[in-house]
Amino acid sequence: MPNNRDAMDYRGLYLIVLVVHSVYGDVSYSIPEEMKRGSVIGNIAKDLGFTFRLSDRKARIDTEDDNDRYCSIDLTTGDLIVAKRMDRESLCAKKPSCVVQQELILENPLELHRISVRVNDINDNAPQFKEDLQKIEIGEQAVKGARFPLDEAHDADIAENAVQSYTLEPNEHFTLQVKTKGNGRKYGELVLHNELDREDKQEMTLLISAVDGGSPQRSGTVAIHVTVLDANDNAPVFSQAVYQASLPENSPVDTLVMTVRASDSDEGINGEIVYGFDHVSDEKGNAFSLNPTTGEIRVAGSIDYEKESSYELQISAKDGLGLGSYASLIIDIVDVNDNAPVIHQKSLSNPIPEDVLAGTEVGIINVQDRDSQNNRQVRCFIQENVPFKLIPSIKNYYSLVTTSTLDRELVSDYNITIRATDEGTPPLSSSKTIHLTVADVNDNPPMFDEPSYSAYVTENIKPGSTLCSVTAGDPDWRQNGTVVYSLLPGEVNSSPVSLYLSVNRDTGVIHTLKSFDYELFRSFKFQVMARDNGSPPLSSNVTVSVFITDVNDNTPQILYPTPEGDAFKSELVPMVTHGGSLVSKVIAVDGDSGQNAWLSYHIIKSTDPGLFSIGLHSGEIRTQRDISETDSMKQNLVVSVKDNGPSPLSATCVVYFLISDNLAEVAEFNHHPHEDSDSKVTFYLIIALVCISTFFLTFIVLMLSVRFCRSRKPRLLFDGAVAIPSAYLPPNYAEVDGMGTLRSAYNYDAYLTTGSRTSDFKFVESYNGNTMPADQTLRKSPTDFAEIFGDSEGTPEVSMTVTPLI
Ligand SMILES: *[C@@H]1O[C@H](CO)[C@@H](O)[C@H](O)[C@H]1NC(C)=O
Ligand SMILES: *[C@@H]1O[C@H](CO)[C@@H](O)[C@H](O)[C@H]1NC(C)=O
Ligand SMILES: *[C@@H]1O[C@H](CO)[C@@H](O)[C@H](O)[C@H]1NC(C)=O
Repeated sequence: MPNNRDAMDYRGLYLIVLVVHSVYGDVSYSIPEEMKRGSVIGNIAKDLGFTFRLSDRKARIDTEDDNDRYCSIDLTTGDLIVAKRMDRESLCAKKPSCVVQQELILENPLELHRISVRVNDINDNAPQFKEDLQKIEIGEQAVKGARFPLDEAHDADIAENAVQSYTLEPNEHFTLQVKTKGNGRKYGELVLHNELDREDKQEMTLLISAVDGGSPQRSGTVAIHVTVLDANDNAPVFSQAVYQASLPENSPVDTLVMTVRASDSDEGINGEIVYGFDHVSDEKGNAFSLNPTTGEIRVAGSIDYEKESSYELQISAKDGLGLGSYASLIIDIVDVNDNAPVIHQKSLSNPIPEDVLAGTEVGIINVQDRDSQNNRQVRCFIQENVPFKLIPSIKNYYSLVTTSTLDRELVSDYNITIRATDEGTPPLSSSKTIHLTVADVNDNPPMFDEPSYSAYVTENIKPGSTLCSVTAGDPDWRQNGTVVYSLLPGEVNSSPVSLYLSVNRDTGVIHTLKSFDYELFRSFKFQVMARDNGSPPLSSNVTVSVFITDVNDNTPQILYPTPEGDAFKSELVPMVTHGGSLVSKVIAVDGDSGQNAWLSYHIIKSTDPGLFSIGLHSGEIRTQRDISETDSMKQNLVVSVKDNGPSPLSATCVVYFLISDNLAEVAEFNHHPHEDSDSKVTFYLIIALVCISTFFLTFIVLMLSVRFCRSRKPRLLFDGAVAIPSAYLPPNYAEVDGMGTLRSAYNYDAYLTTGSRTSDFKFVESYNGNTMPADQTLRKSPTDFAEIFGDSEGTPEVSMTVTPLI
């Protein structure tokens, strides 16, 4: 029986832990068996010279085959500690050297260190006999020096701790001789010292002790019961001292292994031989059965080469009197390729980022085949066409490495089937599928669906209306592919673009915040940025062009005559005017463009409907016929100016005419009746004074020039030109050549939209002067127009003729 207290004492003695070598990253320790869980075997971090923190490298202990994990590692201290009781006897039985193999796995990069833990025997088992009592019968005629072999004692321990010797309690007849077999086992033989006399002593009991070499020593005893017989007797003898046989593993139960034979020269019951195993029954013994009478050895249990590659059994042959002889039986088990390779995934970086370089190790594979020799030679390969390969590493380890870069957006996961085939006949193979996921890296910027966007909106669009929407896609994963839209800073009509527009950060829909005025600007551009939520984020920009379309929102503006004009600013029409003469012109502009600014002029009411007509688009008022004496002196026209928009807007004005040849009439007509009486008195006083003076002067002049009594005809003072005071022009127009607040290009457009195409520039030029010289050609140099047209090149020389009105 193992004595626990003693075993503990021994631990102290054996706790000399040896680091045998650490070449190639391997390390060996030597420890006594039966160490308590949690005991420190050694500091592996120090022994392997690690400078990193073990937890950073996910250090862990693993095992080869499907063996148990006997060790574990303390990640903080780097100590290798006992995780499971190691009993040398159950681990290695009688093997002289008992080594437990464990592996230390480190990741990033993957590394493997083999740890060999040699488990040393401690004397925890005492020698033991198969039975407590052994019966043996000896004839009284046996001579001095006759030998009688005894059953062996067994000790599970090995070497020094196994059975070392036997002692016999002192007695009159026998002494003990200890003998050693070829395999080192020791057994005892009784040697007859004093001849027996049946009449004197019929039976006796001897006490034999077996002791081991441990310290303290352990022992086991057996009682030998000797019966003294009358008859003559011979012990049986085995035909061989050692029997050898070989047996393929997996042989079925009842397969005959071999037959052992012993002979006894006695007859009758003394010659009847009984065969049997001479060992303490254990699992090993259960594998075979020995027929007690025939000596046939047959398979009785499962024979597995991988568990036990050879058996060494002690057999005995005894006759009816208990005299026996002993032999060894060695059965070698022959390996059969009955184990397929087993693929172990020792380590795997999963998921792996898609940006790993080609050749990056992503996992360690270990392939085990429990068979031996050729049966355990394994070839390993990947079945699929995937960008991974296996690189053989130490022993039966393989590194799984990438062969090219990965792209999660193309292939997001791989099923890698590894197939291992051994070289037995027939070969066995197995496969294992490793599922590997590729982790996203923010490597794709958002991409807009279109290279650029255009939006067409009418001016006066309601704030809050949808202008357009932009969309960008990003194939990355989750936040790396989540697109957020924003406006990039920019200017619209020298205001920040954010005053005019907003973009929905999630949908990319762009809304207006303000309406646009076509008359202020007709198009603008801004940029939208699509950014993903990765870190660092990636972005791309797109330009959105907005084109504003005109709405007929400006009524024609009449420049001449002034809309609120009064009857005293009448146009003079001479009596002699012929039909078709230009007598006046209505001038109007419209802030809109195109059709919305195409003006037409209509007379909607006139004093004499047949007298005047107006050019539909020129606004020129002409007489339709010669003026006659009968026509009324005062003529009024109500002119409507209308644009050509979808819902036309119009303005009206009144043009007053005064048909007369006489300036005095004009003066009288234009005379202000509203003057107050004070000024009238002054006026009459002045008139009286002037009359008196004139009278006097006339008298003198008459006297002096009585000889030259010649009188002249009155002359026509009015020359008929249409003189439109510059004051009627709106400020914009007067400022064209100066520091205009509007851009010149706009002004240019505005002029072109006025009714009379030929006279557009006349307004600017001729009305800046107070009167229009008749029959004169204006020559403008191209540079003068360049100011109006902006910087346009090659402006042709423009020549304009102002048509005389009469
Ligand atoms: C890998 O195998 C799993 C489970 O069988 C399957 O759902 C998945 O679609 C496979 N992936 C590929 C890339 O074949
Ligand atoms: C996004 O990409 C970054 C690297 O660019 C990576 O670290 C992160 O895990 C990714 N996120 C997701 C949800 O895949
Ligand atoms: C988009 O525009 C912003 C601001 O001008 C700039 O910082 C960014 O680099 C641009 N992105 C790209 C992809 O051009």
